[in-house]
Amino acid sequence: MILYLGIALSAVILLWVGWNLRLDALWQPTDRMTVRRILHLALVKEGEHVLDLGCGDGRFVVIAAREFAACATGIEVDPARVLWARAWTILARVSSRTRIVWGNMYVADLAGVDVVILFLSPMANCKLQERLRCELKPGARIVSYYHPLWGWEPEEIGVAKNGHPLYLYRIPEER
Ligand SMILES: C[S@@+](CC[C@H](N)C(=O)[O-])C[C@H]1O[C@@H](n2cnc3c(N)ncnc32)[C@H](O)[C@@H]1O
Repeated sequence: MILYLGIALSAVILLWVGWNLRLDALWQPTDRMTVRRILHLALVKEGEHVLDLGCGDGRFVVIAAREFAACATGIEVDPARVLWARAWTILARVSSRTRIVWGNMYVADLAGVDVVILFLSPMANCKLQERLRCELKPGARIVSYYHPLWGWEPEEIGVAKNGHPLYLYRIPEER
């Protein structure tokens, strides 16, 4: 019995790892000091809507809501991390101002978003750029950790705790 359970568990883990490897961005959490630096760099204000595309365990969502009084949404494709992130928003008592969506970030609704957080990959950034440019409102900010947005001029470049770059972009008033 224990042997069968072990085999079943190993199969589930292997399937989960294999499925994750097919994503454009693998899970790698941002350290909490860098999360705060990114939210400061984006000048997140009370009541603003922060969106983390590929939110992992929801750390940006929780910190944006708890420490910056923002309304925050995280979109994550991995159901295990979605459950984890939702549990965390409840434990942190920010569930009334946050939303963790189980879904595909490439079709996320960008209307009304003030700040977008990206910690993805060059490929994922490239796939998202056109929608960010066309669908975000003028003045919206984007911070991309580590990977730049190709061909875009950053307004500012911050530094993460580990020395990696934080690129801040702003959607111009006129496109
Ligand atoms: C490098 S992690 C960043 C996690 C979190 N934003 C952070 O900084 O701690 C990238 C996340 O994007 C998620 N992801 C990858 N492709 C996705 C997709 N198409 N839709 C939603 N989430 C996706 C992964 O599952 C992973 O959790």
